[in-house]
This record gives sequence, C-alpha cells and structure tokens, in this order.
Amino acid sequence: MSKDKLWGGRFNAPINEFVEQFNASIDVDGRMYREDIAGSRAHARMLGQQGILSDADVKQILAGLNDMEKAIEEGALPFTVALEDVHMNIEARLTENIGDAGKRLHTARSRNDQVATDTRLFLRRRVDEIQIRIRTLQTALVNLAQCHADTIMPGFTHLQTAQPVTFGHHLLAYVEMLRRDAGRFADARARMNQCPLGSAALAGTTFPIDRHATARELGFDAPCANSLDAVSDRDFVLELLAACSICAVHLSRFSEEVILWMSAQFRFIDLPDAFCTGSSIMPQKKNPDMPELVRGKTGGIIGGLVAMLCTVKALPLAYNKDMQEDKGAVFDAFDQLEGCLRVFADMLPGMKVNKVIMHKAASSGFSTATDLADALVRAGIPFREAHDIVGRSVSWCIEHDTELHQMDAAACAAIDARLTVAMTSQLSVEACVAARNHIGGTAPDQVRTQCAAWTQKLEADNA
Ligand code: ARG
Repeated sequence: MSKDKLWGGRFNAPINEFVEQFNASIDVDGRMYREDIAGSRAHARMLGQQGILSDADVKQILAGLNDMEKAIEEGALPFTVALEDVHMNIEARLTENIGDAGKRLHTARSRNDQVATDTRLFLRRRVDEIQIRIRTLQTALVNLAQCHADTIMPGFTHLQTAQPVTFGHHLLAYVEMLRRDAGRFADARARMNQCPLGSAALAGTTFPIDRHATARELGFDAPCANSLDAVSDRDFVLELLAACSICAVHLSRFSEEVILWMSAQFRFIDLPDAFCTGSSIMPQKKNPDMPELVRGKTGGIIGGLVAMLCTVKALPLAYNKDMQEDKGAVFDAFDQLEGCLRVFADMLPGMKVNKVIMHKAASSGFSTATDLADALVRAGIPFREAHDIVGRSVSWCIEHDTELHQMDAAACAAIDARLTVAMTSQLSVEACVAARNHIGGTAPDQVRTQCAAWTQKLEADNA
C-alpha cells in the first residue's frame, strides 16, 4: 500500500505491484548500507549539536544505527523491495526498532543529498581498493620485468617486426599505463571528496545545520558549495567510469598481446594451466580464456560509461530518477575491473616465457636494419642516404635468402662502397638493445634501473 510508504501521505491508491519492483533500487544500492549508516550517524550527531534534535533522541538513533549495522552484517535484517532503496530500508527499520526518535532522523535531509553522499562515500572506498589492486598488478609486472631485463623479443609496429626490445621493457610499458590509471583514480577521488549532505532535496534546508561538521566527520574535504549542483552532479560517476574504462582498455591491449603470444604461430609464452580451459571437442586445445575475458569485459565497462554519459546529458537540474541507474553501471565497472586486475596479477607469476623462440623471432625480419643505418651515419653518411643503402641491402638479402650480418665484403661493395663488413658483422640483437641505453630506452641496464625504482616506489606506496 502506498499509504504504508514513508512518502505515502498524499496517496490514495496503492502502488502498482510491478511498479513497486521496477522502481526499487535496493538490489543495487543495498551494498551501500555502511555508508548510509555512517551518513545518518554524522547527520544525527550534527542535528544534536545544533540543538535541532534532543540529546536523548540522538543517543537512541546512534544506538539504533549500531544495532542495525550489526544485524545487517549478520544477515539478520534482510532488505525488502517494498521499502524501495537502502535509505528507506534503513530508516524504516530504525523507526521500527527505536520508535519516534527514528522518525526524526530525516529532519533537514532528503534522499537526494543522502544518495549523493552515500554514493561518493562508497566509491571513495572502491577507489582505495582499486588502487591496491593496481599496485599489486604493477608489482607482478615489475617482478617479471626484472627476470626478463635481458630477454630479447621483437618489438612491433603495425604488428610487423620493427626492432629488438627487451621483454622487461615491454612489461614496464604496462606499469607506466597503470601509473597513469592510478593517477586518474586519485584525481577523480580528490575532486569528488566534497559532501552533498545538507543540500536536502535541492535548495538546502530551513534548519540551522552545520555542514562543515558532517563533511568533517565523513572525511570529506569540504561541503559542496551549491545545493542544486550537489544533488544533481554525477561527474564523479562519469569520471570514475572513464578511469575504469581506460584502465580496462590497457588490460585489454595486454590481453590481446598475451593471446597472440600464446598462439602456435608465436609461441612466445605459455599461461599456467590453472588459468586456461580446454575445448569440449578438440582435445589438443588450451585456451587463454582469462585474457580473452578481460578483453571481453572491457566492452561492458566502456558500455557503462557510454550509458551514463547518455543518461546525464539530458537531465535538467536538479535530481531526476534517471540518476538511480548510475549505481548499477559504476558498481559493475568497479567489480569487473577489480576482477580483471586480480586475474592478471595472479596469472603473471606463472607465465612461462620462451626465451629461445622470442630471441629467434627478434633476430628475423631484418630487425637490426636501423642499427646498420646508424652505423653508416656514424661513418659520416647522411641518414636519408644510409636509409637507402640499408634498404637495398635488405632487398639483396631477401633475394639471396640471407641476413644482414652475414653479408660479406663483396656483397657490401656491390651495394655501396661505403658499406663495410665491419658494419654488418657487428649487427646482433644483443648489441641493438644494449645500445639504446638512455632514459626510456630498451637496454637491459635501463630495465634494471627502472625495476629498482619501481620496486622502491611500490614498497613505499604499500607501506
Ligand atoms: N534510490 C534513489 C536513487 O538511487 C534515491 C533517491 C531518491 N530520491 C527521490 N527523490 N525519489 O537515486
């Protein structure tokens, strides 16, 4: 019956049965019960301090909220769709338990500032958790990079062999992406850490509230400056969905590489059995399901971002019920991203790296051609000419089914008088990577330096 609802006073007919379900958000926002209770505690204390509620009422409310939190945690207080959302489930139960004091809790408050506050608090916690997951994955990548500072693989552009790189260097590229991801989450967290409480439905309240007190108690940096904005702003949801999407895209790119590397055509790596599955018909198959799923889930996470951008784009100020859809999208993005980060961090230490095959692949495809051009430049030849000489050398090698470093004096002389065996014979993938020994370069020494710096940073951040 609508009459039984917390908002039922002006209603004469009961709510439609399906509408009751369609309208409810408890299945999604029930997860925010801790934050809802924390918000209510802060609000009640503030009302007491300001003389808006009596000390006795506040005492009862606080005790009642403590009992409720315990009961919910123990599963002794199941939520009901009839009470629509987490805010009304908790308020109604509180009133059932403590009577009139519970009915006074909603003074100077609306579900609109309440939900905005709860969601910010909940997502703040999720951001802190995701930061730990990001660091854990970075640690796994750095550890692996350290083991493979000297492991040589082909570096690709256009997915064609380009130049040799170290596998450790390749892995550290993802550590850098994750650094920026962590930065995006941290930026969004700093921006959203303002308290909507006290904005009430949209315009503020007639009671002499202390918004600084509630903001402080809940760990916010300040109260939101404009009540209309405070209840209708979902920028933080969009920013976090964007941060989740970009991070997922990074993991998806890595997934794509891991999948390619594990194929019979590459055979660069093998994933541990515990992270793969077989085929129900092809007995030989071992499939890289985990990276495939990570790549697949990325679509869903991006979908959440697009959905919320579309939802918010048409909303007039201030609160609109459309906003209720935000939590499903952003909670799901965090859940999925957390799973993706976790599965990669768990899987990487067991990844087998086929150094011999990687080395062979790095040595093919004329990957040392740029270094030969550089050798000609060092002999005083302009780079564009050097480029042409090496281009003709490659063509010659293809024709004679040989490699650049195997070209003899006659072959060199036939191409250009300035090309010498001293230049070609020195070409090796080891020399190629070792020579790129500057900040950001692929040399084993650089990889080791980077790994050491990262290990120190990650240990400090984890402390
Ligand atoms: N369940 C609602 C939501 O998630 C809470 C706010 C409801 N406010 C309202 N005026 N109906 O958005």
